[in-house]
Amino acid sequence: MKIFEAIRQDHEKQRLLMKVLVETSGESPSREKFFKELKIELAKHAIAEERHFYIPLMDSDQTIEPSRHAIAEHHEIDELVEKIEQTEMSSSAWLVHMKRLQERVLHHLNEEEHEFFQQAGKVLTAQQKEQLAAAYKNEMLIA
Ligand SMILES: [Fe+2]
Ligand SMILES: [Fe+2]
Repeated sequence: MKIFEAIRQDHEKQRLLMKVLVETSGESPSREKFFKELKIELAKHAIAEERHFYIPLMDSDQTIEPSRHAIAEHHEIDELVEKIEQTEMSSSAWLVHMKRLQERVLHHLNEEEHEFFQQAGKVLTAQQKEQLAAAYKNEMLIA
């Protein structure tokens, strides 16, 4: 498996969790459970992706700028997650913040998949693509 497929699989998990979360209402066990899962999933993914994808891509002039951009977006996403955590689950603001997070994350995932993967594909060797996938998957398992 190549790094792109490994990342894409986890992006699908995030998309699904967010889709479910925006359908939840009030202070419900499902809202609590799926938000907790999403938070863990986003945090683990950002670390593994930075470590086994963006950092190696910072070696190349062609991919340093988009790598920085993506890492900055990870920070933005972290802040939105924090904002949701500080909001009462029973308040209507919770869903407003959750929808904003969904929008930001979807934008980020689409940018990675449709723009960044193509650029990275030209910079990484076939062997690197496989090795990074293994390292990324391993990190996701132990994290
Ligand atoms: Fe990312
Ligand atoms: Fe990602």
